[in-house]
Amino acid sequence: MSNYIINTTKKYIENYNKSIAEPEKFWSDLAKNNFSWYERWSKVLEWDFKKAKIEWFKHAKLNITVNCIDRHAKSNPKRTAIIFEPNNSNEKQKSFTYLELLKEVSKTANILKTMGVKKGDRVCIYLPMIPELAFSVLACARIGAIHSVVFAGFSSEALATRINDCESNVIITSDGSFRGDKIINLKSIVDNAISRCSSPQKVLLIKRTNQKVNIIPKRDILYDEIKSKVSDECKPEIMDAEDPLFILYTSGSTGKPKGMVHTCAGYMVYASYTFKNIFQYETNDIYWCTADIGWITGHSYIIYGPLCNGATTLMFEGIPSYPNYSRFWQIIEKYKVNQFYTAPTAIRAIAKQGNKFLNGYDLTSLKVLGTVGEPINIEAWDWYYKNVGNSRCPIVDTWWQTETGGIMISSIPNVIPDKPTFATKPFLGIQPIILSESGDEIFEYEKVGKLCISFPWPSMARTIWGDHNRYINTYYSTFKNKYFTGDGAYKDKLGNIRITGRVDDVVIVSGHNLGTAPIEDAINEHNLVAESAIVGYPHEIKGNALYGFITLNTENFDENILMKQINEIISKRIGPIAKLQKIQFTKALPKTRSGKIMRRILRKVAARDIGDLGDISTLLNPNVVKEIIANSQ
Ligand code: WTA
Repeated sequence: MSNYIINTTKKYIENYNKSIAEPEKFWSDLAKNNFSWYERWSKVLEWDFKKAKIEWFKHAKLNITVNCIDRHAKSNPKRTAIIFEPNNSNEKQKSFTYLELLKEVSKTANILKTMGVKKGDRVCIYLPMIPELAFSVLACARIGAIHSVVFAGFSSEALATRINDCESNVIITSDGSFRGDKIINLKSIVDNAISRCSSPQKVLLIKRTNQKVNIIPKRDILYDEIKSKVSDECKPEIMDAEDPLFILYTSGSTGKPKGMVHTCAGYMVYASYTFKNIFQYETNDIYWCTADIGWITGHSYIIYGPLCNGATTLMFEGIPSYPNYSRFWQIIEKYKVNQFYTAPTAIRAIAKQGNKFLNGYDLTSLKVLGTVGEPINIEAWDWYYKNVGNSRCPIVDTWWQTETGGIMISSIPNVIPDKPTFATKPFLGIQPIILSESGDEIFEYEKVGKLCISFPWPSMARTIWGDHNRYINTYYSTFKNKYFTGDGAYKDKLGNIRITGRVDDVVIVSGHNLGTAPIEDAINEHNLVAESAIVGYPHEIKGNALYGFITLNTENFDENILMKQINEIISKRIGPIAKLQKIQFTKALPKTRSGKIMRRILRKVAARDIGDLGDISTLLNPNVVKEIIANSQ
């Protein structure tokens, strides 16, 4: 038990040093004493960054759901596992104890079995934030199926791409979803996606909105009907430590999403350990993370991390602005939330409304505040600290990625002091390093370099589904023997790390990772578009927004109609989250003599930072830059 709880600075320093000096011993002790295994490992770690081969707890046998559910259902059957707060504040909330969760998950697992799902099969989950989403994820893990959760804001084409990529044959969805005052017909999006799928599909349909939907007999199975026919007991599948647990897609600098593969044992140990310490969770605390389970934050810090610790985790179906901007505070007051974890974009959107939505709510239950997803600006940090935390709660600014599986750099309440806009210090076992272009470590303070990690940690992704070479090329080929994060960072005098943002063609919009390449591919399909370049630029609420520079193959066009059509294509191909905030039609794009678009210049134009455009000597068409600047928005 000794090194599982890190609640003093001394413990952090001692254990951090151990975790670096003797990583295998450190993780082995931790894993041995705090989790339930069918069989222990024969070797703690085997790794080779050159081949991107990483194995943790080799040959161990376990089932993550036993750790997340069964052991708590046995010791504390009546403890609340999940609280569900519906979109509509007038609808009754629901709670599930650990024993009830065990039964629900077992039933869902048995339903999947009757649909023919076996260990190793991929199951696509396309659901709103309802309890059945948690049951479905855990049901897959129970029977060893690999879940691939797709955020229910993605379009049918984006959904189909993800289904086809991992060749899943079962989709779990619902009739619809509630989002504020809107109802979205998820079933028709799924039907549409299936028409683009290369292999046959079965659908498990959960009722949420009660709207009338098209049912295809035999293909579509009704959850409510089949649920009463299956047992509420399901033996957990015995999984190998390195068996895949899930695939989660993230964007990259080419058009195709990357299916990051996480495996059972290492992911469990790290998600669980980080949750416990970074949020300083104590028994009976009520913990709330506002992310969607469609993103990694929801996987690690709504489901696996909290449940593994026997915590009470709150799931919220709705949005911060419905019925008005008080909703988050009303929920915190209602459930006496102790730890609150959200995104800078939500904080900025709420802060912009002024304090009238916050005044009068009792937020004294709060102990720890957290942020994730993008760098937080000082104004948002201050607002959050003063108004939500009443200048009393530490803020954990947690830096991590879909690829890292768990939080990598963060302060720890009462252990590592926070510093506004800094992620601060590495978590136990994490060895960050900041490198120059040429791969030398940067020792100077406040000098930005590329953030890498120089040693494996248990929850790192093991591969990209179906494309190990892409995994090697994206993360391990930029710097020798290092995992390259794609982020820029610097250190202050005390060694606190500040993340400055992406250094590649990924833009973080409202905390969502968007690759510019797939958006450009979508736009280029319009028959009037010749070429396009999308860049991010700073945006007051979203953090970044997208700016599209587009050349056309005609001079006759109606700008307004075209802008509308372009955003419609993006919504259809990717989803409304990827819509362009600004579009500039231009005669040409700035290119190098070798024909590459000089995005660096476009980024500067979009950010209105045109004082110094840097070296433009390799530019083929300098006049174009003048025109673009003159017409920029
Ligand atoms: C960014 C989300 C600054 C970063 C968990 C990273 C952050 C990308 C922070 C991963 C933070 C995440 N401060 N930037 N606290 N957290 N990021 O895969 O650019 O959706 O590489 O994982 O978000 O986004 P992803």
